[in-house]
Amino acid sequence: MKKDLLKLLDLTREDIEKILNVGDQMKYNQKHGLPHNYLQGKTLAMIFEKNSTRTRVSFETGMYQLGGHPIFLSGKESQIGRGEPIEDTARVLSRYCDGIMIRTFAQEEVEQLAKYSDIPVINGLTDFAHPCQVLADLMTIRERMTRLEGLKLCFIGDGNNMANSLIVGGLKCGMEVSVACPEGYDPDARVLDFAKAEGGAKFSLVRTPEEAAQQADVVITDVWASMGQEVEAQKRRAAFTGFQVSDALMKLANPGAMVQHCLPAHRGEEITAEVFEAHAQEIFDEAENRLHAQKAVMYLLMNGGES
Ligand code: CP
Ligand code: NVA
Repeated sequence: MKKDLLKLLDLTREDIEKILNVGDQMKYNQKHGLPHNYLQGKTLAMIFEKNSTRTRVSFETGMYQLGGHPIFLSGKESQIGRGEPIEDTARVLSRYCDGIMIRTFAQEEVEQLAKYSDIPVINGLTDFAHPCQVLADLMTIRERMTRLEGLKLCFIGDGNNMANSLIVGGLKCGMEVSVACPEGYDPDARVLDFAKAEGGAKFSLVRTPEEAAQQADVVITDVWASMGQEVEAQKRRAAFTGFQVSDALMKLANPGAMVQHCLPAHRGEEITAEVFEAHAQEIFDEAENRLHAQKAVMYLLMNGGES
């Protein structure tokens, strides 16, 4: 594994499988009350320049359960908000802490932080990627369906951080991936290049949710307007009309198909209340698995890579 987890493009299939396997073990240990305080005496700095419920609580709880200590740094209240260069923050935190988790806007900021840090950096969401979420999604799909290889994953909606990470994670794990986005809202060009080169016929980008959902084993969606895009909300509501996971759409998927949503969800927009509630168990398993998958990431990156 590399020093950092910045985006799934940087990981091999073996790296992803190792994280999922260790994540399963972390879950087992926690459920059975088995000690797993592998990060005793270590600290994780958590920088948040955007809102969060799941990411903050799962990293904070995970670090505590591993015997370590998390430190919450709000972008606004720390010196980052007053313009201290990210290169300096990286070198300072490297003198105190054993790892950094960051949620911010530009992927370049996370890459720069990692470049100047001696300690592992974990991407807790950027505009480009949400690798920790997709590791939890893959863990949940594998847990329910017993495998990833050969399953069809479809994503309906904005070609955002979730779409980017799902395309890469799904294809790397041998899944078929079909994405339906309105024109003008495609996934990142770097991700599409990867998908075309590595996924070949296993990847498709289509313009209607119906095409993407055909015979899908997993149907995934995300909000129409992500954090930082609030001013575009109205325009996006118009552009995404019809890009909704509904009962009618689910009928096109395979019988027993799963639904995943990273949350928070906007019922009546990207997903109907009926589909959300019918698949709530899977969706909240997915939220829970953030904890276990991230404990695996922290353990593998911050414990010298031993497993
Ligand atoms: N899914 C997710 O990352 O949730 P939060 O924004 O609450 O952290
Ligand atoms: N695409 C969403 C994901 C939230 C977890 C956002 O970036 O706001």
